[in-house]
Amino acid sequence: MCGIVGYIGAKPVKKILIDGLRELEYRGYDSAGIAVLQQGGFSLFKAVGKLINLEEKAKEFESNGFSVGIGHTRWATHGKPTELNAHPHLGQNSYVVHNGIIENYQELKAMLTAQGAQFLSQTDTEVIVHLFEHHLKTAASAFEAFRQTLARLEGAYAVLLVNGSVPDTIFFAKHGSPMIIGRNTDNDVLFGSSDAALIGKCNEVIYLEDGHYGYASSDEVALFDAQDREVVLRYVPLSDNKLSAQKEGYRFFMEKEIYEQSTVLADTLMGRLRDRSIYFEEIDPSLFEGINEIKLCACGTSYHAALVASYLFERHAHIRTSVEIASEFRYRDPFLTSDTLFVVISQSGETADTLESLKMAKKSGLKTMVICNVDNSSMVRLADASILTRAGIEKGVASTKAFATQVSVLWMLSLYLGETRKTLPATEIERQIQLLRTLPSTVAVDPATHEQLRRLSKRYLHGHGFFFIGRDVFYPLALEGALKLKEISYLHAEGYPSGEMKHGPIALADPELFTIALLPQHKLYDKTKSNIEELSARDSTICSISPLDFDKADDHIRTRAQDDYMLEFFEMMVVLQLLSMEIAIRLGNDVDMPRNLAKSVTVE
Ligand code: G6P
Repeated sequence: MCGIVGYIGAKPVKKILIDGLRELEYRGYDSAGIAVLQQGGFSLFKAVGKLINLEEKAKEFESNGFSVGIGHTRWATHGKPTELNAHPHLGQNSYVVHNGIIENYQELKAMLTAQGAQFLSQTDTEVIVHLFEHHLKTAASAFEAFRQTLARLEGAYAVLLVNGSVPDTIFFAKHGSPMIIGRNTDNDVLFGSSDAALIGKCNEVIYLEDGHYGYASSDEVALFDAQDREVVLRYVPLSDNKLSAQKEGYRFFMEKEIYEQSTVLADTLMGRLRDRSIYFEEIDPSLFEGINEIKLCACGTSYHAALVASYLFERHAHIRTSVEIASEFRYRDPFLTSDTLFVVISQSGETADTLESLKMAKKSGLKTMVICNVDNSSMVRLADASILTRAGIEKGVASTKAFATQVSVLWMLSLYLGETRKTLPATEIERQIQLLRTLPSTVAVDPATHEQLRRLSKRYLHGHGFFFIGRDVFYPLALEGALKLKEISYLHAEGYPSGEMKHGPIALADPELFTIALLPQHKLYDKTKSNIEELSARDSTICSISPLDFDKADDHIRTRAQDDYMLEFFEMMVVLQLLSMEIAIRLGNDVDMPRNLAKSVTVE
C-alpha cells in the first residue's frame, strides 16, 4: 500500500527519495511523487504508474547542496490513481505526504473551502496541508500550526509536511500508521514508513509510537507524545538485512500478512461504508440491470472466497448464484445466458484459467466483473467492471490477507445487491454495516491465541490426515483451512461439510485422524455440534474452534464471543491461518515458498 520517505541533508536528494520509494515498492502502488525544498524553492514531480515514470519526469532535476525532500508511493483509495491525486499535495507554500485515512476530511474540506482554500485533488490527504496553512495564519510558529492541525485530524495517519518558511525542517506525525526516523554519521535525517526504505542509509532509527509528532532539521530532532510532553530520543541500531526489514520482525511474510489483515481490511472498507448503504465508487449500478443470476469463477483460495459469496448473495440478495472452478468451466461447454453476471475473483488478476474463463464469458456476451487485488492486471483491463481489494502485495504463496479482503468485498457486494434488489430491510443493512466496521479489530491477532496455537501445533505433525469441517460459510472456510495446511505443511488435509462426514469419510475416523472443527455460536451450532460428536464417538482426535466450551474435544481453541456468524468467520479464519503456519514452521518448511507451488499461475 502507500509508502513514505523523507530526507534532510546535503546528499543527492532525488536519488535518496526514489531509492527509498523503490524499497517500498513491494507494498504495491499506482502513482508516486516527490517534493524537494532547496535554496528557498520547491520542485515537485509526480507520475502515475511505476517509479520509472517518476524518474523520467524528474530527470532534469539536479540537487545542489543542502535540501529537504519528501516522497510517496500511493495506492488509490480516495480518488483514482491520477497525477493530481498523487502525493505530495500542495497548499500555498507547503507540501504534505500521508498514509492512512483522515475520517473527518469532508467536514474539514467544507470548512476550508468556505474560507477560500482551493482543492485540486479528490483525496482526503489534501485537507492536511490546507488546514496547516489555515492555522499558520494565526499560530505563533509553523510548528504550532502543525500541532493545531494534528489536533483536528480524526482517523489514522503517518504524515510528513514541509513549509517554505522553515526550509530546513520536516514536520512529522504518527497516529495508527507506521513512521520511522533515522540518522547516520553524516548528520542526515531520514524518514520512512518502513525501515526497508532506510536500510543502508541510516545506522540508527526511532520507531515512532502512536501519538508521536515533532519536527526535524539537521541540527535537531524534537519529539512529543500525544499529551504534548517532549519525549527523550531513543535510537536503536538498524540491521542491514533488507529481506528481514521487509518482514518487519516477523519470521515469514505469511506471518506478517496474517498480522496485516487488520490494516488491509480497514483499507478495503475505506470509503465504501456509508451509514445505511454500501458505496462502490467504481461500480455503475446499471451493471446489474437485467441480471437474474450471478456466476462466480475462480481458482484456489479465490474459489473459496467465491463459495462464501454464493451463500451471502443468495441469502442477502435473493439472486441465483453458482460457483465455477475456472479450469473446469473452460472445457465443460457451459450453458450461458445473457441475464447472468459473470464475476471472476483473483488476487493476481493473471491466473490463466480464470483469465480464459473471463474471455469466454465476454465472448458469449455476458456482462463481466472482476474482484481483484492488482489494478491494471489483465483481468481488470478486460472485465466490464472491477472492484479492487486493496490487500497490498501479498508475498507468501499461501494466500491470507488477499482472501480476507476478497471475502470482505463480497460481503459488502451482497449488501449492496440486497439494497438495490430490495431484499434486505434497511435495519439489517445498517446492522451488517456496523459489523463490517468491526472487522479490523475482529481479525487483529490475539497474542494469547497465537501462543496457544504455537504450543498446540506440536501435537498435529503426524497422523494419516486432517478433516476440516464446518457448515454454511464455515464449509468454504474449512476448505480454505485445509488448503492452507496442505500448501505449507505437505500434510494431507481435506475440507468437508460437517453434515456430509457420515456419508463416507467417517469411515476413516480413528485417533490418528485429526478433525479441525469449526463450531460457531451463531450459525447452526447444534447441528454442527452433533456432527463433531459423531466423530468424537469414533475416536477421531478433535480440535474444536468455538467461542463456547465443547467437552468432547481433545483440544479447544476458544474464540471471542461475537455478535454475528460473519465475525466468527473472520476470527476463525485467522486461527486456521496461524495453525497451519505454526505446524509448517515446526516441520521446518519454507512457509513463504512451499515446494511445487507458484504465487501466480499463468499456465493452464
Ligand atoms: C495459485 C496460488 C493460490 C491462489 C491461486 C489463484 O495457485 O498459489 O494462492 O489462490 O493461484 O490465484 P489468483 O491470483 O487468481 O487469486
